[in-house]
Amino acid sequence: MAAPARKVSLTGIKPTGDPHIGNLIGAIRPALSLVEEHDSIYFIADYHALTTIRDPEKVREYTRSVAATWMAAGLDTERTIFYRQSDVPETFELAWVLSCLTGKGLMNRAHAYKAIRDRNAEAGRDDLDSGVNMGLYNYPILMAADILLMNSDLVPVGRDQTQHVEIAADIAGSFNHHYGASFRFHVPKAVVPEAEAGRTLPGTDGRKMSKSYDNTIPLFLPEPKLRKLIRRIPTDSVPVEEPKDPDSSPVFRILEQFADAETVAETRKRLEAGGVGWGELKNQLFEVLNEQLRDLRARYEELMAPGSELDRALAEGAEKARRRARPLLDQVRAAVGM
Ligand code: ADP
Ligand code: TRP
Repeated sequence: MAAPARKVSLTGIKPTGDPHIGNLIGAIRPALSLVEEHDSIYFIADYHALTTIRDPEKVREYTRSVAATWMAAGLDTERTIFYRQSDVPETFELAWVLSCLTGKGLMNRAHAYKAIRDRNAEAGRDDLDSGVNMGLYNYPILMAADILLMNSDLVPVGRDQTQHVEIAADIAGSFNHHYGASFRFHVPKAVVPEAEAGRTLPGTDGRKMSKSYDNTIPLFLPEPKLRKLIRRIPTDSVPVEEPKDPDSSPVFRILEQFADAETVAETRKRLEAGGVGWGELKNQLFEVLNEQLRDLRARYEELMAPGSELDRALAEGAEKARRRARPLLDQVRAAVGM
């Protein structure tokens, strides 16, 4: 019997500034580990960024920097398909076809759009659509095109993006319903790695690490800055000699994600026994983090240099992606009557 076909997983990465260690643990590493069991596809959603970023230099800079971050974190461009969305124009042709199958009501219910309307209502504005461009409104359709163009089965995303993947599944269903006799899309499913492993990282104020709370430890920091941020993480006032609860300590919870299993188990024991102060634990966290981030930063800087292997990798990735997209789009075109 032939081996069952490997499922296709696709991850879209929005080019925004300054990734933090929460993104690395909750999104980047889990998405990279899928390569073992899936045909893995990663792309940078640069056209999605246009809904909010109007500065062309920023779009270019963030796109390169996010590509360098993922490659530095271990993305293997030989074993995967890695490309920029804007290099695959087939996406936008498919987006039009999909938009003709998408009820306007479905877009009205998208959380991101609804959130803006709610904010406008709260601010007492008459026009609830104030500040909404059509790119933002149609965002879920473009995302559906990204997903369906590669005939993806699984889409690893953060919790806030699961609705968008459900919308893509709905749209795939409509297409299959109307045109299924000549072509059918796989119906995609979201996977939320963060929820699976319970690895939400706390930030420097003890709340969930997030850009919106301004409590992040960015991935690329000079050493003194890293040390300073770690010192800022809150601790309780249990004296040095007393036993401590590792699981309620944000410092330990970060350490747990970066140190090897043996070190984590040993540190846990030492905290529970008493005699270890929070200052000492913070020094340990600094050493562990600094060692890992140092390598990551060196690789990142190499990749960010003009003419580095990054540019070649993205050019090759675009070709691979288009070779995959073209035959699918041809089938879609034939199915709808082009
Ligand atoms: P932020 O909250 O900083 O704006 P994003 O919403 O851009 O981060 O998240 C990008 C990805 O990183 C998502 O998949 C999200 O689940 C993951 N992520 C963000 N913050 C954390 C965290 N503190 N712990 C684990 N994963 C996180
Ligand atoms: N909307 C996603 C985000 O904000 C990025 C994205 C664009 C995406 N297209 C995608 C994610 C396709 C998964 C699949 O993070």
